[in-house]
Amino acid sequence: MSSYKRKKTVGDTSWFVHDRFGMFIHFGLYSLPARHEWIKTMERISEEKYDLYFKHFNPDLIDCKEWARKAKAAGMKYAVLTTKHHEGFCLFDSKYTDYTVMNTPYGKDIVKEYVDAFRAEGIKVGFYYSLLDWHHPDFPIDVIHPRREDGEELDKGRDMKKYAEYMRNQVTELLTNYGKIDVIWFDFSYAKNPDPVKMLAFDKGNPPPDPNKKPWMQGNGGKGKDEWESEELVKLVRSLQPDIIINDRLEIGGDTVTPEQSNTYSWRKDKETGEYLTWEVCHTFSGSWGYFRDETSWKSHKMLIDTLIKSVAYGGNVIMNVGPTSRGLFDHRADDALQAYADWMKYNSRSIYGCTMAEPEFTAPIGTFLTQSEEGDRLYIHLVDYPFKALVFDGLEGKVEYSQFLHDGSEILFTEKDGKVIFELPVVQPQKITPVIEVFLK
Ligand code: GLC
Repeated sequence: MSSYKRKKTVGDTSWFVHDRFGMFIHFGLYSLPARHEWIKTMERISEEKYDLYFKHFNPDLIDCKEWARKAKAAGMKYAVLTTKHHEGFCLFDSKYTDYTVMNTPYGKDIVKEYVDAFRAEGIKVGFYYSLLDWHHPDFPIDVIHPRREDGEELDKGRDMKKYAEYMRNQVTELLTNYGKIDVIWFDFSYAKNPDPVKMLAFDKGNPPPDPNKKPWMQGNGGKGKDEWESEELVKLVRSLQPDIIINDRLEIGGDTVTPEQSNTYSWRKDKETGEYLTWEVCHTFSGSWGYFRDETSWKSHKMLIDTLIKSVAYGGNVIMNVGPTSRGLFDHRADDALQAYADWMKYNSRSIYGCTMAEPEFTAPIGTFLTQSEEGDRLYIHLVDYPFKALVFDGLEGKVEYSQFLHDGSEILFTEKDGKVIFELPVVQPQKITPVIEVFLK
């Protein structure tokens, strides 16, 4: 058994640390402008203009079953869909606002379609719910709000308490109307005194606001646990869905730690107890979460595969994002990226599912990343940087019973000397992306 003691979580994370790989789906009105999911605030789009996206929201080609089949083929075992993003638009039927999919030309509850389709494929279902809301009339104007320049007028009379209650009402709907939900993903908290320059990095060409002239942009502009009433929200979530996994963006901790768009080369521990934390990194295929037509910085297939390997090698999960087009389809670049996972996972998923960071007695040779089965009997050497002819693994002598390539189950011969195991490899890399040596330990 793995010797790493994981900090106990309130929600049920037992399946989560086994499954390792999930699909994030960012879908909303921002899929129409197709220029980033923050577009409303990036371009300070007026309500009138943004309403056009609401009026024309009609993903006529959507087929959540197809989404689910693609996720499954890619090896993804759970999914998280944006039920509401910062723009405030709800993909579900809600009693508490008209700003939902039901009042668009599409007119059907997409959250329901998603839940049914993913569950039918045996994929666990999660909901993303934005704490920010750039549509709700009670959400106080702040430094990243699309109406930030008009705060003087618009901020008057806004009541954060009412908004916090609105969130609880909606979360109650989400967690009672759709059966068992496995994950709830709240996003996000920003400090009490947000640095306007940093927060407005997207607001290119505009000078940063002068907080002396715009008081709603400083001090209480930022929002966190007090504004969201995080404690109460979590209590509510736990009462409705006791096993659900809650992420850590409510500013009061959570079951999972959720870094974003980064590679992690250590397994984060609890500062007090030294126990290992449950974590999940979220990534995009390209630079945006919502569908972005003209964005071209798509990650290579190798980067995508290696990101997953590296995360599991440090005891973590990956949730990889797809932003469907406004017609409800994954575009060809997303399909292509998912296919890369499908091709690799078909043969290599054994080094991912049920695996974690290798025991400290194993030091990864240069150019490789290790994972080990939770039971401890198998070690997986990921040849991220393919070596020439041989791989020398120090400290492994006497521990190997048998070894093979994972993708084709072909034996890898080895010799042992001075504490080392020398695996004999073909000069030509046998698999396009990152082959894996499966080592059966004695
Ligand atoms: C960031 C982005 C947000 C996205 C989220 C996913 O917070 O601002 O748009 O939904 O990351 O982690």
